[in-house]
Amino acid sequence: MQINNILVIGSGAMGSQIGMVAALAGYHTTIQDIAEESLAAARAQLSSRMDNSVAKGRMSREVADEALARLHFTTSLEDGAANADYVIEAATEKLEIKRAIFAALDVAAPTHAILATNSSTLGSSKVASATSRPSKVCNMHFFNPALVMKCVEVVRHEDTSQETIDTTMELARSMGKSPVLVNKEIPGFVANRLMGALRDEALRLQEAGIASIADIDTTAKTALGHPMGPFELMDLVGIDVSYLIRMATFEETGDESDLPHPDVKALYEAGHLGKKSGRGWYAYD
Ligand code: CAA
Repeated sequence: MQINNILVIGSGAMGSQIGMVAALAGYHTTIQDIAEESLAAARAQLSSRMDNSVAKGRMSREVADEALARLHFTTSLEDGAANADYVIEAATEKLEIKRAIFAALDVAAPTHAILATNSSTLGSSKVASATSRPSKVCNMHFFNPALVMKCVEVVRHEDTSQETIDTTMELARSMGKSPVLVNKEIPGFVANRLMGALRDEALRLQEAGIASIADIDTTAKTALGHPMGPFELMDLVGIDVSYLIRMATFEETGDESDLPHPDVKALYEAGHLGKKSGRGWYAYD
């Protein structure tokens, strides 16, 4: 299937960088968000990221400018979807919101368009049932920061067609990513389940006073070769994201051991959301 136009729903940390990745890969890309100020912030951040890559000699000015020129911003889902061949939804991790978006996309996007969700916990069957094209719905899950991280999890649900999977895997490769196929829906897929195991143990170790947050992070980096420790990573991804992922998982499984750790809940409720709010496990000034 030929893809020319991509629509990304949501201009937060994930949506904005996914849009930039698509534009850099040569696709005409639109980022849609209901909040004008979020679109303006995304535009400014992406432009400054491109300036940075040019300054570091990673990219020519021409390549950066061409990619930025392929990137459009709108508050209208209908306008963005009108000529989309592929849609990646990266809105907030709440099922009712995602289902409403998928129902609207089903009406507004051409019938051939594939509708993917970047959700890290919700299997796409949950949103496919809000559309009349479940075979064209799957998860296309990027990692933060999406401009840098190579992995994309492509997750099928029972009715996802092979063509949808093949097109999505190929799209990810064309963006310079290394897609992995997840054959069955399971909350957290593969990466977040692996990461969750490490994070849960890190939370237990700090709670029991076995080692400090900084020393646990240092151990993950210097003993295990991870680029970041689990607490630094929670701050990068966002305490709200960690919290909402666990809440969504709990809602799916009903298993209380899936609830967010009380310390994560406390940070979330205090508005200490990590790097983006200036404070999470660490303070950023
Ligand atoms: N956005 C975009 N680019 C960024 C960035 C950001 N937030 N942070 C760093 N970069 C870029 C830098 O500009 C730099 O690019 P150049 O090589 O072109 O100069 C490159 O990444 C390396 O950055 P740094 O040298 O500053 O720092 P680093 O070597 O420590 O790398 C990192 C930073 C890539 C974030 C690295 O620490 C890392 O890989 N951390 C782990 C990230 C991770 O595990 N992500 C998965 C999160 S889980 C998730 O996303 C799933 C989910 O469902 C919630």
